[in-house]
Amino acid sequence: MVGYRAHVASPEGTPPVTDNQTISGDQGPPELNSGMPHSARVWNYWLGGKDNFPADRQVGDMVLEAFPSIVDVARASRAFLVRAVRYLAGEAGVGQFLDIGTGLPTADNTHEVAQRVAPASRIVYVDNDPIVLAHARALLTSSGEGATAYLDADLRDPDTILAGAADTLAFDRPVALMLMGIMGHVGDDDEARSIVRRLLDALPSGGYLALCDGVDTDPAGVAAQAQYNESGAIPYHLRSPERIAGFFEGLELVEPGVVSCSRWRPDPAAGGAPKEVAAFGGVGRKP
Ligand SMILES: C[S@@+](CC[C@H](N)C(=O)[O-])C[C@H]1O[C@@H](n2cnc3c(N)ncnc32)[C@H](O)[C@@H]1O
Repeated sequence: MVGYRAHVASPEGTPPVTDNQTISGDQGPPELNSGMPHSARVWNYWLGGKDNFPADRQVGDMVLEAFPSIVDVARASRAFLVRAVRYLAGEAGVGQFLDIGTGLPTADNTHEVAQRVAPASRIVYVDNDPIVLAHARALLTSSGEGATAYLDADLRDPDTILAGAADTLAFDRPVALMLMGIMGHVGDDDEARSIVRRLLDALPSGGYLALCDGVDTDPAGVAAQAQYNESGAIPYHLRSPERIAGFFEGLELVEPGVVSCSRWRPDPAAGGAPKEVAAFGGVGRKP
């Protein structure tokens, strides 16, 4: 069994508790390879963050030059996350979130958005990047009524994730599974679909999937992605919008379905029709 550490902020803790208990298989201190570009840090660079290294900025700039719209993709994906969580915690009434591929803390992290709408929301974050782990404290600022936890674990090991998440989430009540910008790291479609299916199988009826990922609709984006994948970073594979929609098979799609992230229930206050970006996503309910 692959080990993971859980860092938990619980409702009993005021201020929020950050503990460091090893739940299973302590792997020692995280290894941080700052000389190699990494998805979470390059993403942070495109979002205008400061938690990145020269190797990340170099690859980030290379992609930016070939595909300047990558900044719109990153921002629109993040804005989609916020609108999807707001919908799930509000209209859909889901009080629990399993956010796999969390990324570096930024403005409006999942627990902040959910707990603004429903303060008792419980969130488990999962990522396998040591620098995300190093910043996890910022994700553990739960409201007193709710809870947040962080698991250092790999998407490819759903059983370990589900076992760790069960300490914080009750899987007999609706949970929203969030896979934002992560499925592209699993290039093989069968493997990717099987991971999503295994995670969805653990959700009861009334659970949700919220997913958004890069698509291959823009030739400049496809060319830039090929360059990125040769940089030494863990490759990210763009899918067609139809293949993104395939992840929702068996679920009831929430309107407007699987669309460009910018066009999923856009904020009326933003005004006008949002520009399409090369990332598609949606929200689906398990019947
Ligand atoms: C592009 S970022 C997306 C961050 C965030 N979800 C967002 O939408 O802004 C992808 C994240 O997935 C994480 N990741 C990539 N492969 C992973 C894996 N196999 N297991 C867990 N996390 C992974 C990376 O470390 C990174 O933080």
